Amino acid sequence: MTSAVSPAPVFLKDYLPPAWWVDTVSLDVDLRPDGTVVSATLAVRRNPEVAPGPLCLNGAELETLSLAIDGQSLSPSAYTLGDESLVITAPPERFTLETKVRIQPDRNTQLSGFYRSKDGYFTQCEPQGFRRITWFPDRPDVMACYTVTLHADKASYPVLLANGNPVAQGDEADGRHFATWVDPFRKPSYLFAMVVAKLDVLRDTYRTTSGREVQLGIFVEPGKLDQCGHAMAALKKSMRWDEATFGLECDLDHYMIVAVGDFNMGAMENKGLNIFNTKYVLARADVATDVDFENIDRVVAHEYFHNWTGNRVTCRDWFQLSLKEGLTVFRDQEFGADTHSRQTARIREVRGLRAMQFPEDAGPMAHPVRPSTYVEINNFYTATVYEKGAEVVRMIHTLIGKDAFRRGMDTYFARHDGQAVTCEDFVAAMADASGVDFTPFMTWYRQAGTPRVSARGSYDAAARRYTLTLTQVCPPTPGQPDKAPCLIPVAVGLLGPDGRDLDLGGGRTTAILQFSTHEQSFVFENIDAAPVPSLLRNFSAPVVLDFDYQERELAHLLAHDSDPFNRWEAGQRLFGDLILANAARLARGEAAECPAGVIAAARTVLLSDSDPAFIAEALTLPGEATLAERMAVVDPDALHAARNALARALAAGLEDDFLALYERLAPVGAYQFDTADAGRRRLRNLCLGYLNELDRGGYRAQALRQFEQADNMTDQFAALATLANAGGDEGDTALAAFYARWQHEALVVDKWLAVQAGSRRDDTLAGVERLMAHAAFDLKNPNKVYALLRTFGGNHRHFHAADGSGYRFVAERIADLDAINPQVAARLARCFDRWRKFDTSRQAHARAALAALHARPGLSRDVFEVVDKALV
Ligand code: ARG
Ligand code: ZN
Repeated sequence: MTSAVSPAPVFLKDYLPPAWWVDTVSLDVDLRPDGTVVSATLAVRRNPEVAPGPLCLNGAELETLSLAIDGQSLSPSAYTLGDESLVITAPPERFTLETKVRIQPDRNTQLSGFYRSKDGYFTQCEPQGFRRITWFPDRPDVMACYTVTLHADKASYPVLLANGNPVAQGDEADGRHFATWVDPFRKPSYLFAMVVAKLDVLRDTYRTTSGREVQLGIFVEPGKLDQCGHAMAALKKSMRWDEATFGLECDLDHYMIVAVGDFNMGAMENKGLNIFNTKYVLARADVATDVDFENIDRVVAHEYFHNWTGNRVTCRDWFQLSLKEGLTVFRDQEFGADTHSRQTARIREVRGLRAMQFPEDAGPMAHPVRPSTYVEINNFYTATVYEKGAEVVRMIHTLIGKDAFRRGMDTYFARHDGQAVTCEDFVAAMADASGVDFTPFMTWYRQAGTPRVSARGSYDAAARRYTLTLTQVCPPTPGQPDKAPCLIPVAVGLLGPDGRDLDLGGGRTTAILQFSTHEQSFVFENIDAAPVPSLLRNFSAPVVLDFDYQERELAHLLAHDSDPFNRWEAGQRLFGDLILANAARLARGEAAECPAGVIAAARTVLLSDSDPAFIAEALTLPGEATLAERMAVVDPDALHAARNALARALAAGLEDDFLALYERLAPVGAYQFDTADAGRRRLRNLCLGYLNELDRGGYRAQALRQFEQADNMTDQFAALATLANAGGDEGDTALAAFYARWQHEALVVDKWLAVQAGSRRDDTLAGVERLMAHAAFDLKNPNKVYALLRTFGGNHRHFHAADGSGYRFVAERIADLDAINPQVAARLARCFDRWRKFDTSRQAHARAALAALHARPGLSRDVFEVVDKALV
């Protein structure tokens, strides 16, 4: 598909170092009712390593008021001023550039650059927001020291923040005030931040191991201080963990977190001044769930960890995004595993990867962990760059081991502190520290698509030998028709008939096979009986692994595997295979089946003495989007019905067990967020959910009781979600009561919207349409859009409704939203990624909806790229 105004792609191969460096930046930012005037003074110097050329500065939506070099106003012949570029043709070798622009933060609905939110003004500069504030070479390899002075009305905006340390502040005429901040660290422009607002602050201090004292502050909407304690504790835990695990200390005097309700993404690691979506800061037992508390830990840690992996060592260009994101996600995953439960953390990561990244890797937006081209870089803050990127780092960790990995990190910082580098630089540090040659591994960075590994085993009783043969293929992805094999670390164990691990030599029970060709055989000697292989333990590589397991073998693994991830995995295979078989039966007009063996295997897990959180994960059925990837042509109705049928069969078969467990797990004391309690709540709420699959008034009444009596949001919301998916009037009763109680807590209202948009009730689309007009909804607020519209787009059955109503509805909303916030609109457009996997009639509806969108004049680059690729 092409359009008359197709925006041009950018290519990694075209990278050139900057022709000019900027050493210092001094900004004066003056907030006035008619706009904000930004005066910038840049110390610029020619890069001697590059052929001389003009100085190119980026800008967007800037009203240029004046331009001067070394104090002299620029003559019109010395520069070319465009909407998005300022080119100074032949400046001196070294000079001071002064620019003055006016910007309109009150009209900035894109939430990139400097923008207005409820309590004041905030920034988001990654990746290319700084150019919406001032003229600048807005690329991550240009690093400078910043001094920032802010001026604003004091009563309306008492808080004036920027990166670094406060060096001056005071009052000015007309009730205004100012503050000056100096950031001693060189940084790329994407890490710039400033805040001009009315906020409350929770303060604390942290002493690093070497004795440096850091002032901590969490700034939030007035009145919300009682929701900051968890984030502050998370910050201090993260700081301690990074010292203990990687020897990395905080280098700052001030570390501030500012929460804002209007934010496109999760959070942002600006040097010393993180800006967060309120969703990842605010928490109190009655308004946040256990999952929220855990997510806050992870996101606070993630942004803090970026201070080393991202800020001290940053990216040369945006193609290297995974250098900081994959590595930092890996670090926050490890922090989460150490802080909470390692096994459930891993299960949830893989569940997320399969639900989001595998479909992405199989769809029109598939791209390598390090993309080689993009149209709009904002579209590449993806599950592939983040989550698959983290898997790639994890594979390095698996291949060289913990100690060598730590040495590799030390080498990376020793070599590159203060630099803007590439993924190769990271891998080279790991290679040099471990002595391992990572050349064959680099395919993971270059190649898109999820490798598919097929395993088959053969046991030779006479020779006491087990041979495992692996083959790999990677399906073609856009622009990459032919794939090379990857170096895949396959962690393998062999279970004996008694369920115990067999000795694989020297007492080892897990072997890491290095599988790097199309087909390879691995031989295990001295094996006394035919084993059941436990493959890809702990999910040692982001691949799809096929093995023709028998139902009883899966039950054996589910009951005995010493690798908790693979115990869970065995259950997922058992349930997944059955759901898919039943979907096919239902599509043929036959009835769904549920073999007694499956119920029995589920009962064994349910009654086992495993960690309750693990039991809950093991009995959570694989999601529809994940299962859909395994269908040649997706039949969302049959899939949905088959999944529900299995849930109902398990409920019927295990009703007494679920009920007994529900009662046994009743809370003993008041709510507190800790891993063990959260696990018990999770399992208890799973029991409640299963019981309500039986569609009985008694169980609905029980859920309603829990809804009304819970002293915490976890239990209240779990009951609400159960009822919102059940028949009967209890759901409506609970939904109304919930809104009445929580309408003033924005993040709780998001939950209320999401639970309705994700409902399996038949009238869900009508409900969502009604909610669009509700006072609780706001198309300008990303959290509301994600809660209502993206949740609906992820509602597998309703988004993919046979009559095309889901497609049309979402496509129209994307068009409306694109005029407001292209980044969020493009995220919503990703709901269409898998449209080609459906039947021809659904495809026709989806194509028509996408084509209508594609044809709209003035479409943003963001949405254009997603829709254009979807239609190719
Ligand atoms: N670097 C941030 C994080 O991962 C994400 C910021 C992305 N922002 C964006 N507008 N695409 O922590
Ligand atoms: Zn990040």
